[in-house]
Amino acid sequence: MKKAIIIGATSGIGRGVAEALIEQGWQVAITGRRIAALEQIQTKYGAERVLIAQMDVRSPESSAILARLLNQLGTPDLFLYSAGIGWQNRDLVPETELSMVATNCEGMVRLVDEIFNHVKQEARAGRLTPKQRVHIAVITSVAGTTGMGSAPAYSATKKMQSTYISALCQLARMEHVPVRFSDIRPGFVATEILNPNKHYPMTMSCEKAVGHILRGLSRHRRVIIFDWRFKLLVLFWKLIPRPIWERITFIKN
Ligand SMILES: NC(=O)c1ccc[n+]([C@@H]2O[C@H](COP(=O)([O-])OP(=O)(O)OC[C@H]3O[C@@H](n4cnc5c(N)ncnc54)[C@H](OP(=O)(O)O)[C@@H]3O)[C@@H](O)[C@H]2O)c1
Repeated sequence: MKKAIIIGATSGIGRGVAEALIEQGWQVAITGRRIAALEQIQTKYGAERVLIAQMDVRSPESSAILARLLNQLGTPDLFLYSAGIGWQNRDLVPETELSMVATNCEGMVRLVDEIFNHVKQEARAGRLTPKQRVHIAVITSVAGTTGMGSAPAYSATKKMQSTYISALCQLARMEHVPVRFSDIRPGFVATEILNPNKHYPMTMSCEKAVGHILRGLSRHRRVIIFDWRFKLLVLFWKLIPRPIWERITFIKN
């Protein structure tokens, strides 16, 4: 039975991936702050298939909680960091900016480091099979393509996540750690993170997004962007020279 640990699985993309994997026969360990949502998933699928742990990724305690899950579940095939928050912040309220840094950056670093070091330790102790590689995936965003004036911390934290994964890819080769990485960059997906009072162009259903993510993961894609419209958008976005980008004022999302 394949095993996954999903951080931030009480709603949205993390929950969708968790339920899809359970339905494919995986055993999963899922986390989030909303214990009632975790218990609901566990009741639906059974405790032998679903381990749960309440976790706030902003707390240093979260490393120890992940270590306990690794003890219970064993080394997983997939580790997915889906916890995240995002707000626009044109009034530049520092607390709002810093809350995104804490969840999207600090939380990710703490937990991705924990799993990376766990795999390194297990490999060095000879407890992994020669072909075993742990897949570490992080849900970043196309918003990390470049800094966005309406969402400074959100875009910057997503860029940081992508850069961090790239750094760890290189580190894994330097240190011979048997991991592979995926940087999953969704466009707009209909989940709780979107403001229900706003219109977002090219929004995809969560179910469809999960399908794209599972396909990308099964093909071991290093970067997963979906669908073709967002692929094209990112392609052109990257071509915009910085002095021009910084003068664009009409982008509201
Ligand atoms: N939906 C989109 O359009 C979109 C686009 C690009 C990227 N993304 C990224 O996709 C990821 C998942 O978001 P989503 O769209 O699925 O939104 P969501 O439904 O709001 O899910 C966010 C998940 O993160 C967890 N979370 C948030 N803060 C946490 C904390 N402090 N500690 C632990 N868990 C925490 C939430 O669980 P609890 O509240 O129970 O803690 C929830 O399970 C995020 O990183 C987001 O930036 C989303």
